[in-house]
Amino acid sequence: MEDVVLGIDMGTSAIKIIAINKKGQVVAKTSVGLNLIQIQPGYNEQDPESWFQAVIKGIKSLLQEKNMKHKRIVGVSFSGQMHGLVALDDNYKPLRNAILWNDTRTTEQCQMIRNEFGDTLLTNPILEGFTLPKLLWMQTHEPELWQALEIFVLPKDYVRFRLTGDISMEYSDAAGTLLLNPDTKTWDETIGAQLSLGDIYPKLVESHAFVGNFTEEIKQELDLNYDVAVFAGGADNACGALGAGVIKAEQTLCSIGTSGVILSCISNDKQNFGNNIHHFNHVLSNITYAMGVTLSAGDSLNWLKQTLFDNESFDDVLNQAAQSNIGANGLLFTPYLQGERTPHGDAFIRGSYIGLHSKTSKSDIARATVEGITYSLYESYRYMKASESSNNQIVSIGGGAKNSFWMQLQADVFNAKVIPLKYEEGPGMGAAMLAAYDVGWFESMEACADAFIAYGEPFLPNQQKHELYQQYFEVYQQIYQQTQKLTHQLLKIK
Ligand code: XUL
Repeated sequence: MEDVVLGIDMGTSAIKIIAINKKGQVVAKTSVGLNLIQIQPGYNEQDPESWFQAVIKGIKSLLQEKNMKHKRIVGVSFSGQMHGLVALDDNYKPLRNAILWNDTRTTEQCQMIRNEFGDTLLTNPILEGFTLPKLLWMQTHEPELWQALEIFVLPKDYVRFRLTGDISMEYSDAAGTLLLNPDTKTWDETIGAQLSLGDIYPKLVESHAFVGNFTEEIKQELDLNYDVAVFAGGADNACGALGAGVIKAEQTLCSIGTSGVILSCISNDKQNFGNNIHHFNHVLSNITYAMGVTLSAGDSLNWLKQTLFDNESFDDVLNQAAQSNIGANGLLFTPYLQGERTPHGDAFIRGSYIGLHSKTSKSDIARATVEGITYSLYESYRYMKASESSNNQIVSIGGGAKNSFWMQLQADVFNAKVIPLKYEEGPGMGAAMLAAYDVGWFESMEACADAFIAYGEPFLPNQQKHELYQQYFEVYQQIYQQTQKLTHQLLKIK
């Protein structure tokens, strides 16, 4: 029997599960798709039951893999999509669908919080995606459900509860609620009291905390005759960073999934970057990070593929983008398909192509889209001043790291050394590493990172290309101001 741990990555489009051994080798993996419920534009929900069912289905199918024969699962941990409100009644049953990170219905509630507390709260901007505005939305719009609310948790906490019976939240995810003080790592209940939230807070635990074993019922369902230890886990971006070895001050991550993030670890002294840069706790207890978020990063490419490149793969789209030139023959794209978080914090801005002309080709459109997504992340990078630090290197993961054209483009736009991972498993690896550390395979998470993570050949920036991109970027940065009024006006036409 060989011991393995599972990393369960609860994303928005799928649940991905990996099993790794003590050497950090992926023994088996599986993925189960998830549905998004969009009853109207700006509303993004998921049924918590569907997460639980997908996790059970995923573990079952993983156990069927022939590589899992003679393996014993000794620990499980999680990476979770952040911010989603899971509202539970006194039997810990969900009162409604979860309201997700990319749901933007709460503009009024954000304004109400700003009126009470000013423009930032607990070192964070006040944005639609975060959990507190969602709680206030429920309080106002669903008073009967609100009356029945006993406790709120986040997506992965709910699944962990179903697997173990323990209800808790860990710091890296709690940081995205706007109710956790990231410095003292306690709920700031005065904020909740001022907003009449009542006592709805789950207990807080460290990301690496042991929270319980699989219940007997789950063991039976999975046909396991031994105990499986379950550990709290972390927010997906924090787990992505851990899985990429981004765990020390000044180290920076670029991650392009449905959303895109630039994340830079900082030492624990409070910093306020402004421009809607977030400030959250890492999965390592003494580290926090600054992060800028592009809501529709991979999602913009996905939209483009579905709209203009049907029946072609992402690689085809990127290959065609590579056929165009820097600046896409005068075409710029802003990726504001679902509004934007960093730096604009505007749920009502919409995307645009600027500079279409009679010779614009599909390749130009593909290139402009990839460049626009990258400019959006570069904008966050610049506001975090990471580009001025001595450490001009970025570890890149996710969809953007799977393609060498896009990696080189990142290096040239960011003017930084962009480093891929040799074997990339996304945030699920960070989750598995938490479990690997927790079951005692390593003395520290740093030691686990040293053993598990290998980097590929870096992509080096080309100064001349950077300067050319820079000229386009300067125009890109003006598009927001110039299109804001127009897109807001468009949304009002019914
Ligand atoms: C981060 C955020 C997203 C989600 C995606 O603040 O909202 O990156 O975590 O899963």
